[in-house]
Formats: sequence, structure tokens, C-alpha cells
Amino acid sequence: MTVLSEMATALRAGQKATFAGHADSAAYAAELDAQDPVRHLRHEFVIPTRQMINRTSLGPLPAASEAQDAAPPEHALYFCGNSLGLQPTSAAEYVRAQLATWASIGVKGHFRALDPATTPLPAWQDMAAQCAKQMAPLVGAASADEVVAMNTLTVNLHLMMASFYRPTATRHKIIAEWKPFPSDSYALESQIQWHGLDVATSLIELQPDENLYISTESVLAVIDEHAAETALLLLPGIQYYTGQLFDMQRITAHARSKGIVVGWDLAHAVGNVELQLHDWDVDFAVWCTYKYLNAGPGSIAGAFVHERHGRVEAKTAAKTAAANGTAPETEEEPDVDVRHAGFAYRPRLSGWYGGDLRVRFSMAKTFQPTPGAQGFQLSNPSAIDLASLSGALAVYDKTDMHTLRNKSLALTAYAETLLDGILRDARSKGGAAAPPFRIITPADPAERGAQLSILLRDGDLLAAVAAAMNDADIIMDQRKPNVIRFAPVPLYNTFSDVHKVVSVLRRALLA
Ligand SMILES: Cc1ncc(COP(=O)(O)O)c(C=O)c1O
Repeated sequence: MTVLSEMATALRAGQKATFAGHADSAAYAAELDAQDPVRHLRHEFVIPTRQMINRTSLGPLPAASEAQDAAPPEHALYFCGNSLGLQPTSAAEYVRAQLATWASIGVKGHFRALDPATTPLPAWQDMAAQCAKQMAPLVGAASADEVVAMNTLTVNLHLMMASFYRPTATRHKIIAEWKPFPSDSYALESQIQWHGLDVATSLIELQPDENLYISTESVLAVIDEHAAETALLLLPGIQYYTGQLFDMQRITAHARSKGIVVGWDLAHAVGNVELQLHDWDVDFAVWCTYKYLNAGPGSIAGAFVHERHGRVEAKTAAKTAAANGTAPETEEEPDVDVRHAGFAYRPRLSGWYGGDLRVRFSMAKTFQPTPGAQGFQLSNPSAIDLASLSGALAVYDKTDMHTLRNKSLALTAYAETLLDGILRDARSKGGAAAPPFRIITPADPAERGAQLSILLRDGDLLAAVAAAMNDADIIMDQRKPNVIRFAPVPLYNTFSDVHKVVSVLRRALLA
């Protein structure tokens, strides 16, 4: 067993990572890198050089071989995968293949799959299903039928809420948290208003403690308090600001046991932590694909719909089941709408691409959905977007979430240990002076993903840190007035990268 694999085992068991005495040295970081079983995956990405990251006009990209050989100091230190992941070389390859297909065979590309020896892409009509297949293991779907690639996250949240948030006079509340990503807040509030309800009485916000932490117990207590009036619980798998990873399994089980529909925003969780949406019995989830999935800015998003909500049943079968008391599970919930000719299925906002593939192009007036999550599609999706996503997901085809999470646990624990070292030195230098920062992400590895959110001491520390990072070509997200989000991504960040970044932070913070 290597030090790294032992560390992952300990962290998974909830123990604290113990690094060697010389942890804060470039040599030690290099030792950890040498043990990293997925270090080769870094070469699947274009890692910008320091010269590239400062460009103001478009120049050549390094050839793949150069990208591999370039000495690390020439690379920018990219720690912003929680905002926008780096470009996988396969994304570019797949997009190029798509452009070449379109140029070569025009409209025939919709249905003609070209020789796979010449392209990684199926026919355009099958590309969304290919992406669903690639994303299914990342979210723990029972099958690709529970997953769809479509639209963008906020659009998908609205579409899911159109189907899953069906307030009644008694059950109308949505339980969310105190600081959702703004787009989620706008979606939640506008949905409540769309139903003619009042945000003041229909939106319940979970409040954090003084450390900005929301305990599972407090979530369960709020669920209990509002259970009878709550229609929907909508939380982030990982809170974007603090980096807290929620206990999705426990929260989902508890809310569902009270008859509450459960949806998750997985923007910061997908491709970052292990998910088992099907087994956890989640009703729906939405995510974007430009963060840890690396499909590019504004790339086509994903959604999960549990199989019990995706069923499409011939009306007669549903009726027979109801009559003989063997009604399918979907009948327990307000899922099945028998107004539609011939078929019973969960009501939704519909468009032609949600239509059953077998009849989609017969241009029938009556909507007959494709079973599963893909029946929630509206439009003909952009093949270029799907190509980029499929290319990005091809990197995940070369590994698995368990392996990535093992590295991630160790990488983030290493970052935390080095940051703690800065705090120790600040204490011994500054005596009673307030520490320069505190980490607001939970210390328990089971309650966080890759990201550490660093709350800087009040004052102008953010400006000083930003200037130091800029000089060193470190790319890290800053949330004004005083938070930096540090996200070591196991696919392309190294322990040496982490060591270099913390060295820069140390100089800036202890100056
Ligand atoms: C948690 C969360 N929700 C929603 C969004 C919005 O995503 P989109 O622009 O794809 O709608 C983001 C974007 O970063 C996010 O982080």
C-alpha cells in the first residue's frame, strides 16, 4: 500500500490525514505525485502555460507532446475547476469530428453513424443518449434511462420544478438553504410566484451556524417542522460558497419518508464526489457540465429523473393495474396524467425531442414521451455541445469516481494541512493578532469535495492575495469581499501544484 492509498482509506474512515514532518517541502509533494495512480490523466488536458494565460490575442496551443514535456514551472497554476474545468484534448477532438461530419454529409449526419474507425461520434440523433450513458455512472443512475443531457442547469431546474413542484393549498413550501447560488434563488422564487404564492410564506431557508455550517440534524429538524406543508426540498449536493457536502442519502430518505419530493443541484458535486442517486431514491437532480466535468463554458447540462417518474404506460395497463390493486408506484404520487391520449406519464412541459424516438419524426399531434429522463427533452440539442460533452466525458471513461475521490481526499487534505501550517506560523509570529484566515469548508473529509473556501480576515487581505496570485499566474476563484475558493482537481492538479500555491499564499498572508 502506498502512503496515498493508506491516506485515502483513513480519510474515508473519517480520520484526519497525517502527513510526514517534511510535508511542507517541494520534495515531499513530488513524492506524493510519484505515487498518484491517476497522474497520467493530467496529460489529457491542455494545461495553460504562464505565457498562454496572460494572452490578449489568440495564439497557438502547445502540441500534445509539448504539453506533456513542458517543465511544470512554465504552467499556470489552475485551481478553478469548481468554476470552469480545463479543456480536455478529447473535447477538441470530438468537436472537430462533429464539424467535419457536418461539413461532409450535411443533414445525413442526423441518422448516419460514420465508420467508428474514423470518428468517436455516433449519429447526431444518438449523441444525447451517448452522453447520458457516459454520465450515468458519475451520478449513480440505475441506467442511462435515468439521465439526460439537455439545456443548461437553470433551465433544467425550471423544467424539473414544472413537473415536480406542484403546490397545493396545504403543501406549498419549498425548503432550500440560506445562500443558494443566485440563479437557484431566482428560479425558486419565480416558481413560487408563478404559482401565485408568496415567497415569504412558501420559501423556507435552512440557516447555518456561526461557522456557516448546516448540520444534517438541523436539516432534518426543519423538515420535521414544515413536513405537512412542504412540497419540495431543493438543496445543493455541495454548497457553492462554503464547499459543504450534504448527507444526500440521509436527507433524501428523511424528506421522502414525509412525502416531500427531493431534488438536488449537483453543479459542484458531479465529477467531484461519489453519487448514488438511484439508490438514494432521489426524485430529480440537475447539474452543469462545465465545472468538474470539463465540457466547456456554458456547455450542455445534465438531469436525473428517478425511474419511477419516467414511466410511460399505455392507459389501459395503468387502468387495469389500478383496478386490480397493483397500481405502479408512480400512482402513489401525482405522477400520472391520464388526460393524454393513449398514455399515462408524469406531467411535464413538453417539446418534440421528449417524444418517443420510434414516433418522434412521424410528426404526430399527440405527444408520446420517450420513457425515462430523456422524455423531458424539449428541443433538438446542439450536436457541437454534445460533442464537447461526450469528448470531456471520455476522460472519465478512463477512470472511475472511486479512484478520483481517493486522490481528491488526499489532495484536499494536503492543501488543508499546508494552510494550517500558515495559521500556526501566523500565531507564533503575531501572538494575539487575529488569524489571517479561516477555512469555512467543513474539516470532516466526508462533508466536503475538492474545494476549500478560505475566508480572509476583514481588511484588504483579498487585494494582497489577489495581487500575489496574479503575479504567480495562479488562477483561483475570488468571492468579494473576502473569500477565495481553492479547488484542487484530481484529474489535473498535482500535489506539487498545491505546494506551490500555498507557498505563494503563505508569503502574501504572512508579509
Ligand atoms: C450551484 C449552481 N447552480 C446553478 C448555476 C447556474 O448554472 P447555469 O448557468 O448553467 O444555469 C451554477 C453556475 O455556476 C451553480 O454553481
